[in-house]
Amino acid sequence: MPSNTPDPAAYFAFRDRLLGPLRTTVLTGEQLCEAGRLIYGEPDGLSLYGIPAPDMAAKGITLLGRTTIECSVDAYVAPVADALAGLLASTVLEGPDTDAPLIVDLFCGSGNFGYHLGRRLALPVQAAELDPAVYATTRNNLERIGSAITLHPVDYRDLLGKLPAASTHDTYIVEPPWGPAFTASGLDLTLTSPPVPEILQDIRRTRDGLPCNVAIKTNDQIAHDSLARSFAGAEHLATVTPSPQLPYGANMDFHLYRLDG
Ligand SMILES: C[S@@+](CC[C@H](N)C(=O)[O-])C[C@H]1O[C@@H](n2cnc3c(N)ncnc32)[C@H](O)[C@@H]1O
Repeated sequence: MPSNTPDPAAYFAFRDRLLGPLRTTVLTGEQLCEAGRLIYGEPDGLSLYGIPAPDMAAKGITLLGRTTIECSVDAYVAPVADALAGLLASTVLEGPDTDAPLIVDLFCGSGNFGYHLGRRLALPVQAAELDPAVYATTRNNLERIGSAITLHPVDYRDLLGKLPAASTHDTYIVEPPWGPAFTASGLDLTLTSPPVPEILQDIRRTRDGLPCNVAIKTNDQIAHDSLARSFAGAEHLATVTPSPQLPYGANMDFHLYRLDG
């Protein structure tokens, strides 16, 4: 086992603290480095907006406990952005507003997923974040890094209602909290809050028949075939699998789908 492989027991205990007592606590610089070490094997593994944990405090980046464990880090989402850019380059752009395809981060958290997609595709990003504490910290962070992401303190459905389909390159990031969907026997995407199939239906309703792309994070242990069942009828485009560090079930995977209108 490489020396920087996280200790599974310490990881799970820390995860419980981040989602429990530290849920809405702004972590110290030291705690951010500990999170990097326990989740990714080294302090620098926790890196958002191109800023590794050891540099966050000095740059005024703050993270709540929940966001620290829920976020998608640079090393994971930059390759997803590359994959999406390649796919979009090979497909014809159609729709009523082809000058401005939408990137919509429906469950913003840190905003790092939207940050990378927007940057790689050179497109503006609209994001929704319902938790006022997460909204406030993310808003601060986006200001600190000079990000052009437009962050709305609203339910994702309200944001969807404001964004009619622009083009066939529109891309939605779907990362709802897992909550009880994350169990010892795997992640059941029909039990996230809200359930993934419901979110996809909400997206479809706004599309006026126009196809779009969806990016989603899962773990590496899907329960009850719930990823395939949630995306029934959609085309699987790509899966990005960062090298596993933690026990089966605790590692992240990222998937891109094409959703019919
Ligand atoms: C799993 S995290 C997203 C992580 C994010 N992709 C990142 O890289 O940091 C889910 C986020 O969605 C927010 N959220 C939960 N329900 C929501 C809703 N109905 N509308 C908008 N945001 C919501 C939560 O407060 C939480 O910050």
